[in-house]
Amino acid sequence: MAQLSIIVAPDPRLNQPCEKVVSVDADLVRLMDDMLETMYAAPGIGLAAPQVGVLKRIVVIDVSKDPDHPKPMQLVNPEIVWASDELSDYEEGCLSLPDHYSQVTRPARVRVRYMDRTGETQEIEADGLLAVCLQHEMDHLEGVLFVDHISKLKRNVILRKLQKSKKQAMVDA
Ligand code: NI
Repeated sequence: MAQLSIIVAPDPRLNQPCEKVVSVDADLVRLMDDMLETMYAAPGIGLAAPQVGVLKRIVVIDVSKDPDHPKPMQLVNPEIVWASDELSDYEEGCLSLPDHYSQVTRPARVRVRYMDRTGETQEIEADGLLAVCLQHEMDHLEGVLFVDHISKLKRNVILRKLQKSKKQAMVDA
């Protein structure tokens, strides 16, 4: 396995809809394993393929936050087939928006259909942190970041700060 580099916003690759995966092959499984390794190392609880520069509909998640008992999930072509009317708020962050957090409102429960690493179709129903994480990561596949759910003013403040620290990193390098 190998660690991949994570793209930090603002970057046009984070704002594009991703392509559907046609079939799960060995290269795709390797990519998903590398994405999990990258996510654990960050550390984070979710990572979508566009965040490592691959514009395909792939997401990896582990909300267990327990290195001794990991619960890795790898989802290919995930889609929401049902969402609750009930909403819930969560203070979200993102590996592509390091050190920035904002409250986002989303459906409290979702049912998601996806293909697993063997190409089998699976369905899960989730609530709590897993529901938040699934929706956050699936947003990435549409080119949507959590800051797109908050006010334009707050979004621009965050994106400007990230842009500034990118420029500073280039000067320091
Ligand atoms: Ni994210």
